Amino acid sequence: MADKVYRASTTAPVNIAVVKYWGKRDPKLNLPTNSSLSVTLSQADLRTLTTASCSASYPSSEGDSLLLNGEQSDVAGARTQACFRELRARRRALEDADASLPKLSTMPVRLVSENNFPTAAGLASSAAGFAALVRAIANLYELPASPSELSLIARQGSGSACRSLFGGYVAWRMGDAADGSDSMADQVAEASHWPDMRALILVVSAAKKGVSSTSGMQQTVATSGLFQERIAKVVPQNMAAMEKAIAERDFASFAEVTMRDSNSFHATCADTYPPIFYMNDVSRAAIRAVEQINAAAGRTVAAYTFDAGPNAVIYYLEKDTESVVGTLYHVLGGEVGGWKSTVVQGLKPSMSLDEG
Ligand code: ADP
Ligand code: DP6
Ligand code: CO
Repeated sequence: MADKVYRASTTAPVNIAVVKYWGKRDPKLNLPTNSSLSVTLSQADLRTLTTASCSASYPSSEGDSLLLNGEQSDVAGARTQACFRELRARRRALEDADASLPKLSTMPVRLVSENNFPTAAGLASSAAGFAALVRAIANLYELPASPSELSLIARQGSGSACRSLFGGYVAWRMGDAADGSDSMADQVAEASHWPDMRALILVVSAAKKGVSSTSGMQQTVATSGLFQERIAKVVPQNMAAMEKAIAERDFASFAEVTMRDSNSFHATCADTYPPIFYMNDVSRAAIRAVEQINAAAGRTVAAYTFDAGPNAVIYYLEKDTESVVGTLYHVLGGEVGGWKSTVVQGLKPSMSLDEG
C-alpha cells in the first residue's frame, strides 16, 4: 500500500482574449487592473495534457516537481506554490473529515505536462498550462470543486488560466475584494450560441518571447500613461460592447472591438518605457491582409488579435472561410510557418471534472 501511486490526467484548452487582460493591481494575489473576455478554442487542436501523481514512495526530499515538454521545470515560483497550497488545503479538509481517506495531501506531487503548441510564444500556454495543472491535481485529490472554484485557484497561477476552465465565450470579472475572492471567470455564452465562429492561428514564430507576460504588464503598469486611459475608459467600453456583440451574434461589432482592443493593448506596450514590441513585420503584414480582405468583401469578415507575442489569431465565420483563409494563405503563405484553423470549445460550466 505504501508504494501505491495515485494518478489523474486532464487536458485543458487555450483561450484567446478579445478584450485583453494586461496589468495587475495586486501581483501577489494575481489580481487584474481590468476585466477581460476571451474565446476558448478547441482542445482537439490546441491543448495542454497534464498528469498528476502522488505516492508515499516518492522521496519527500524531492518535493513536488513538474516535467514540462520533457524538461524539468521550476515549481518553486510563488504562483505555482499558491496553486499547490490551495489544492492541498482542500484535500486536507477532506482527510480531516474522513479518517479513512488516504493522506494524499502529505505526499509529493509529480506533474508531467505537454503542450501541443508553442510554449511562451503568445499563444496562451500559461492559460492552458495552469488550468490543466489545477484540474489535474483537483482530480487526483478527488475534490468536489466547481469550475468557478478551480478558476479562482488557476487565476493565482496565471491570470488568463482562470478563463480556460470554461468553454465558449468567457469573462474574467476583475472583482473588488482585497483578498481576490471575487476575481474569477464565468461563461458569457456557450460555444453552441455562435457555432459558426472560427479561429485561424498563424504561427509567425514559435520562439519563446523576450519579455514574459508577467514582467511586461508590470512594466506597463509602472510606466505607461496611456495604460491609465485604457483601464479607466477603453476596456470598460470594450467589455460592454463585446458582451452585446456576442449576445446579438453581431460579427461586425465583435470584430471591430476585437481589433481595437488588440491595437489598444499593443499601443500601451509601445508606450511602456522602455517600450515593449511583441508584434513583428509579419504580424503587421497579417493586419494589413485582414484590412484588405474586409475592404474587398465590403463588410467585416475577419478580425485579427495578438497576445503578448507575434503570432496572429484571426476570428471569422465559417461561411467566409474561403475568402479569409484563402486570401491570408495567398498573401502570407511564404512567411508563416504554421497554420491551424479551429472551432470554439464547447465545455459546459456544469461538466464533470475531467470531461471535454
Ligand atoms: P504564453 O503567451 O504562452 O501564455 P507566458 O509568458 O504568459 O506565455 O507564460 C509562459 C509560462 O507559462 C511558461 O514559461 C511556463 O512557466 C508556464 N507554462 C506554460 N505551459 C505550462 C504547462 N503546461 N504547465 C505548467 N506551466 C506552464
Ligand atoms: C496578452 O495570463 O499570461 O495574453 O497572469 O502574469 O501569468 P500572468 O499573465 P498572462 O497574461 C495574458 C496577457 C494576454 C491577454 C489575455 O490573455 O487576456
Ligand atoms: Co500567458
